Amino acid sequence: MSLNSNRWNRIRYTFYTPIYDLLVGKIFTSSRRSSIDLLQIKPNEKVLLVGAGTGLDFQFLPRQAQVYAGDITPSMVAKMEHRARELKLNATIDVMDGQNLQFPDNTFDKIILHLIVAVIPDPVKCLQEVERVLKPGGEAVIFDKFRPKNQRLSSLRAFFNKLTSFLFSDITRVIETLLSYTNLKIRKDIPANFNGNFRIILVKKPV
Ligand SMILES: C[S@@+](CC[C@H](N)C(=O)[O-])C[C@H]1O[C@@H](n2cnc3c(N)ncnc32)[C@H](O)[C@@H]1O
Repeated sequence: MSLNSNRWNRIRYTFYTPIYDLLVGKIFTSSRRSSIDLLQIKPNEKVLLVGAGTGLDFQFLPRQAQVYAGDITPSMVAKMEHRARELKLNATIDVMDGQNLQFPDNTFDKIILHLIVAVIPDPVKCLQEVERVLKPGGEAVIFDKFRPKNQRLSSLRAFFNKLTSFLFSDITRVIETLLSYTNLKIRKDIPANFNGNFRIILVKKPV
């Protein structure tokens, strides 16, 4: 089995589901809020959350938005549905592969990619799908850990990455390189948790 595949993600996140909120529920709360604030979601806008996990972002979404959310792991999706019901959030939720989005071109006004671009097996395919389903002029926020573009990939980091990408997520990805395979343009790049190792990046699809 590959070190990072949809199959492996389903297995490990099924295992993590009961403890996920305990592990990451609190530490990223303010970054989630700041990231979603950047989108300035307006009433009735169509918003997609890719790899939305247990729905920890739901609390920051305006109630009038048309929300679509998905994840590759069925147990995470079940928890997400439960959270949406509790928050009385009107959301369409399903099992979904972020590398192969089942939506027509130019569907969404806004897209949220929190802690998914460094996790998903093929991040370029995911970003290309995001570009495809965003409306022209639409925006997406990416919140994740990335290697600075001018930082050489050390052999130590490459070595540890074998372990972290198996257990949690990749620590070698450079967001500027990934985005260079799309037409998405960086509008904001804000340092966030862990001394700016995590960043909030706002991107826009050109009109
Ligand atoms: C670190 S969690 C982030 C969850 C959520 N976005 C958050 O901010 O808490 C990564 C999530 O990505 C999901 N995932 C992994 N590969 C995926 C794929 N190909 N498509 C959709 N979701 C995927 C996992 O199941 C897991 O729920």
